[in-house]
Amino acid sequence: MTAGAARRDFPALRRRPGEPPIAYLDSACMSLVPRSVLAAMRAYYTETPGCAGRSLHRWAEAVGRHVEETREEFARFLGAREPASVVFLRNTTEAINLVGQGIGLARGDAVLISDQEHNSNLVPWQRLARERGIRVDILPLPEDGSFPSDAFEAALGRGVKLVSLFHTSNLDGRTLPLREIVERAHDRGARTLFDGAQSAPHRRVEFDRNGSDFYAISAHKMLGPTGTGVLVGRPDRLRELRPLLIGGETVEWSTLEDHELRAPPHRFEAGLQNYGGILGARAALAYLERTGLEEIEAAQRDLNAIATRELAEEPRVRILGPPDPAARPSIFGFSLAGIDPHDAALFLDAGHGVLVRSGRHCVHSWYERRNLAGSVRASFYLYNHRADVRAFVRGVREMIERIPVGRVTAAGPPPPGP
Ligand SMILES: Cc1ncc(COP(=O)(O)O)c(C=O)c1O
Repeated sequence: MTAGAARRDFPALRRRPGEPPIAYLDSACMSLVPRSVLAAMRAYYTETPGCAGRSLHRWAEAVGRHVEETREEFARFLGAREPASVVFLRNTTEAINLVGQGIGLARGDAVLISDQEHNSNLVPWQRLARERGIRVDILPLPEDGSFPSDAFEAALGRGVKLVSLFHTSNLDGRTLPLREIVERAHDRGARTLFDGAQSAPHRRVEFDRNGSDFYAISAHKMLGPTGTGVLVGRPDRLRELRPLLIGGETVEWSTLEDHELRAPPHRFEAGLQNYGGILGARAALAYLERTGLEEIEAAQRDLNAIATRELAEEPRVRILGPPDPAARPSIFGFSLAGIDPHDAALFLDAGHGVLVRSGRHCVHSWYERRNLAGSVRASFYLYNHRADVRAFVRGVREMIERIPVGRVTAAGPPPPGP
């Protein structure tokens, strides 16, 4: 299957009577689900609606087996030899919190993050600073998308225990050099955690090969159901982590006085799990495998190149991140001089059926330091076609024509007219 040819597999993209065709350009927030994912979730509830690992009846046995098969498939997909490396969680945010709370950080330990992290990879460290007295060191990233190797080396030299960075940025789409980061961090004895929320949907994680200690992903950004995610961790590192939640399913045995935790990954999966979601995520992986991640990324490069070629020369458009769209294939982040980002998003939706994200993209700190109100983000995935990008470009051009610089816009497009 060719990436971009798949629109009909996604029921949300069907044409609604009286509405323009939808150009869904917000997949970095949440991707759409194909029919096969919906069918897999439905099959769980209609065919084998059991809870894994508790009852012994046929439905419970079936769902237990399907969940463990899904774990194996995630491990293969993410390039981890050991299925036990895969912990099912709700999302990237939970995975980062699990590592942060569980890795044993104490007063004086330092965590290194960048100045462009999603709140999910910032706020948990701030709380640990407040409550446990850890140090949070910040690596400033140049705006052109390059990686500041010397500054990174210098930061490591100040005694860092954990490096926790995004792999691909949700703000401007840049990807950090994971291999180099891991090697240098490990040379200095630091552990590594990557926020892979924006990377895993588009490129091979190759977890074992890249050598990172932990990698966090959200399946709902890669065609899976909402509230499904994975932490993949080196087995020895997972054994060192203290679970965030414990209770049912996490213990070998318990008495009124004591308990013994199960081995990873099950000690991290407390309580009844999101079986329907996990099995939906399995179908999502199958869909991505059939399409091919390389094909998906190549198609996005093509779409982003069109948007960049058409809009880079517009004097009021400022594209965020690397100038070369090939260095940020899934994301086209930009600001428009004189136009509020939320107004821009409402204009694109109301007038053109183009759905984008606006605001601070959960990276408030980045905008706050630059005194910016926010930006607009178009993000691409495998169901997007060139027609979507053309609608987006048309919408942006029309907005520029109709909203003069300096005019304070209402929420929505101005009325028709000169
Ligand atoms: C880079 C990045 N990190 C973390 C997250 C948080 O993901 P989730 O909300 O699925 O936990 C997002 C979500 O947009 C993201 O883009």
